[in-house]
Amino acid sequence: MRLSRFERRILGAIVAVAVVTLGGALWFGQGAVSEAYGVGVNQRVLDQLQDSLGIYQRHFEALRDDAERTADAVAYDRRAYVAMEADDGAGLHAFVEGSLTRYPNVARVVVTSADGDELARAERPDRLDAERNRLLTLERPAADGGTWQVTLATPWEPFRAHQRASDLVEVYAQLVDGATYVSSFYTGVYIAFLLSVIIVALAVGIIVSRRVTRRVAVLAAATERVGRGDLTVEVPSDGKDEIAELTRAFNSMVRDIRNSRDRIEYLQRIGAWQEFARRLAHEIKNPLTPIQLAVQQVHRTYKGDDARYQRTVDDAAAIVEEEVATLRRLVGEFHEFARLPVAALEEADLSEFVTRSLRGVDLRALSNAEEDVPAPALVLEVDERPTTVQIDAQMLRRALDNLVRNAVHAVTAAAPEGGGRVIVATRAEGSTAIVEVRDDGPGIDAEDRERVFDPYFTTKSEGTGLGLAIVKKVVLEHDGSIECVAAPEGGACFRIRLPAQEVA
Ligand SMILES: Nc1ncnc2c1ncn2[C@@H]1O[C@H](COP(=O)(O)OP(=O)(O)OP(=O)(O)O)[C@@H](O)[C@H]1O
Ligand SMILES: [Mg+2]
Repeated sequence: MRLSRFERRILGAIVAVAVVTLGGALWFGQGAVSEAYGVGVNQRVLDQLQDSLGIYQRHFEALRDDAERTADAVAYDRRAYVAMEADDGAGLHAFVEGSLTRYPNVARVVVTSADGDELARAERPDRLDAERNRLLTLERPAADGGTWQVTLATPWEPFRAHQRASDLVEVYAQLVDGATYVSSFYTGVYIAFLLSVIIVALAVGIIVSRRVTRRVAVLAAATERVGRGDLTVEVPSDGKDEIAELTRAFNSMVRDIRNSRDRIEYLQRIGAWQEFARRLAHEIKNPLTPIQLAVQQVHRTYKGDDARYQRTVDDAAAIVEEEVATLRRLVGEFHEFARLPVAALEEADLSEFVTRSLRGVDLRALSNAEEDVPAPALVLEVDERPTTVQIDAQMLRRALDNLVRNAVHAVTAAAPEGGGRVIVATRAEGSTAIVEVRDDGPGIDAEDRERVFDPYFTTKSEGTGLGLAIVKKVVLEHDGSIECVAAPEGGACFRIRLPAQEVA
């Protein structure tokens, strides 16, 4: 996927904003997580707990020392030594029994000889209860090579408490270790979230910017085509955003350039044709009178009695008269076309002008229809609201007359049984006034709709093909435009647009 410079810039901006905001949030968030965790779990508390275990440890060492001293005191007592030296079994026994009362932590004392015979034994069953007490048996050498076995009892409770405390310390130490783990876990989750947000933002950014850049690229390509002189471009401009507005402005600019170019071209062409018409009229007009006079003279001066020749001369004279008349009419029309005046514009109301121009028009006379068939109907659809335009009434009336005349001809030529409609409509669209001349005749083929405005384009045997050329020239002189389209009634529609003062 290739990114345009504009897209890269947008994506860069998205990444920058995402990284700054989300990265900031990550930094604060991570601080917050470890702070929140640290309130409950931290190294200081763990150290304290481990210290308290040390206290237990020292207590146990003291207990052990005490046990050693008690064992020494029992085994190395002078009275026991004396009783053993004297082989006094009863004395030894009494001494051993006595040590159970002398020392509250002694549970059992056993004395054996060097041969392994038991010399004396005393014990307190209540102290020997292994459930309640922790028992520790220490050995000491006896005077005759035998052995003292002193069993000492300590209550289990401090040992159990120590066990519980060290379990606790172990769990707590795990938690402290976990604090880094927890915070890095959340950091990982957060970074994954950050990355997915950035990816989504980038995707959305690409989609949105692509929609914009693609349309800008279309516009750029269209501009290039216009630069190469192709004024037929039209860029689709649906939508309501700035790009659509720009596109519409571009299209209307191209349309304006195209119109003014067409206009200039047409006026140049018309100018050339006018010059041609002027010379043609001049060249034809001059010999017409001598031809007419010569034939008239031949006709008049023939005094022979050849009846057939007389008829030939009569026919020739009549034909020449008729054709000369046609030529004179043509010359007149060429002449008129050649001398089309420059429009002198004056302010007028369009609908009023149209109504007035068409008031006296007799469609039956224009159509040359037989008396017994119905003449075409003239339908006026004028916009009653005032529309002020700048017109040369005489020239525009002539244009209107040409259009109505063409429409009547088209309608009657297509329907010999009579009838048909010619519609003249006016309306305003913003600062444009529109006049339409429509009919329900045969219409004009799409490929001829441009050519009909060319001088001398005609499909009629008697036509000059100058009618629509004059119409277009007049409209262009009014700074307007004319187009030929298909009429909703089925025939042709000639639509004139003139600049108008916008009605508030
Ligand atoms: N309303 C119409 N319906 C059908 N075809 C039309 C209509 N108006 C004009 N045309 C066609 O356009 C051609 C040119 O018209 P234009 O007025 O320029 O010349 P013309 O009418 O042929 O000759 P002239 O105007 O000198 O009588 C016509 O010959 C005709 O084929
Ligand atoms: Mg005509």
